[in-house]
Amino acid sequence: MGHINTSIDRLIKIVQQGGSVRTGIDIYNSEKTKTIEKTAIINDENILLKLKAEGIQILPISRQLGGGTWDKQGLELKLRPGDQINPFEKEGLAEIPEIDKKIGKIEETKREATVKFEKAKKNIKKVISDIKDTGGEFDYGQVENTVTELLDFINTDESAFSLLTREIFSYDDYLYNHSINVCTIGTPVIKHFMGKYGKQFGMDDPEKIKEISIGYFMHDAGKVLVPEEILNKKGPLTDEEFEVVKTHSYQLGMQVFEKNHLNDPLIIDSVRWHHAPMFKGERRCYPNDVEPEKIPPYVKVCKLADIYDALTSVRCYKNAFNPIEVVTDLFTKYAKKDKLVQKVLLSFISVVGIYPPGSVVFLSNGQMAYIIDSRGPIVLVFSDDQGVPLKRQPDPIDLSDPNSVSAGLKLDHKRPMTTPVKVYNKLPKGLREMIFSK
Ligand SMILES: [Fe+2]
Repeated sequence: MGHINTSIDRLIKIVQQGGSVRTGIDIYNSEKTKTIEKTAIINDENILLKLKAEGIQILPISRQLGGGTWDKQGLELKLRPGDQINPFEKEGLAEIPEIDKKIGKIEETKREATVKFEKAKKNIKKVISDIKDTGGEFDYGQVENTVTELLDFINTDESAFSLLTREIFSYDDYLYNHSINVCTIGTPVIKHFMGKYGKQFGMDDPEKIKEISIGYFMHDAGKVLVPEEILNKKGPLTDEEFEVVKTHSYQLGMQVFEKNHLNDPLIIDSVRWHHAPMFKGERRCYPNDVEPEKIPPYVKVCKLADIYDALTSVRCYKNAFNPIEVVTDLFTKYAKKDKLVQKVLLSFISVVGIYPPGSVVFLSNGQMAYIIDSRGPIVLVFSDDQGVPLKRQPDPIDLSDPNSVSAGLKLDHKRPMTTPVKVYNKLPKGLREMIFSK
């Protein structure tokens, strides 16, 4: 990336002698606050002294992205090898605490989310096996508790669950994961919608969130009653079989809720209409005799979360699509429809973190990068274009920065994201230690 990790002492000296410094890269502290703007010219030693006091010992300087060091006459100072520090050859990454802390936080949230997810999965397994055994009955209290716990966690970090690997191996496993995913993706979206556009559409009562989330969690409950030979069939379904699958929402799903004497529209609307048309004339929807204007916004959110999760999850027979491709397709399909669909779509796009921190992406030149902030995204590029770990310490790069784009640093939108576990051997030692330290 053409950047040089330079000791802060050396930079302080340059500024004290009347020179100036420009990093070319935005510098963030552990609170995710930008402390140095990439284009800022630093000629006040206090800025650097303050960073040093916060424990920062090096700063990346990227000449390729417009950074550099200059003396008081404005002549560029070449950084000497002695000015550089390579923390990967020293002691782990203790020397760049802001990144260390950031990755620590990402990994901690990931661990907590895994625990919550596994617990929810155990509960949905029980609910599904009850439905199977009794032909529809389940313990509503258990569903309510599970969803309440998920909501509490979403309240502390709305994108926490997007950090988890979305890999599934069997149909049952898919159904469990999919229930949790649609709930944890859809809920922050409907909350956003209600907060921003709710008044306009008469849908701004936060008290309703729990029931809506329960509807998301249980939206596919009717699938449990579809004969297994159809659900697990390898190869395409016949027209008749597909007709049976379609009933999982408006017929079998409704049957499950009737059997449990549940008729709250906030819950059951998502169950029966999550495959219904979002706008007039939308094709391949069922049931298709319902007016799109009658479908409430929270069901439309459910539909988007359902499509998004189905396409971005890795199934045993298919690779996941890259989330940006999926969101772009959703946008192309649903933008410029009626006002409500537009607001639902906007809420979805602004909430769903397309690039969850903690995941690994590929750049168009084949290099791999670890995401530390979904806005940008800001990444640490850690391999060369052949997938060989870089020896030098990776610095954060904002991929939305025009300089990054002009330096050829852009994401490969066709290759799906992966996780640090999957590319374990390609991670530089220091980064690996930070990610897997606990
Ligand atoms: Fe469905």
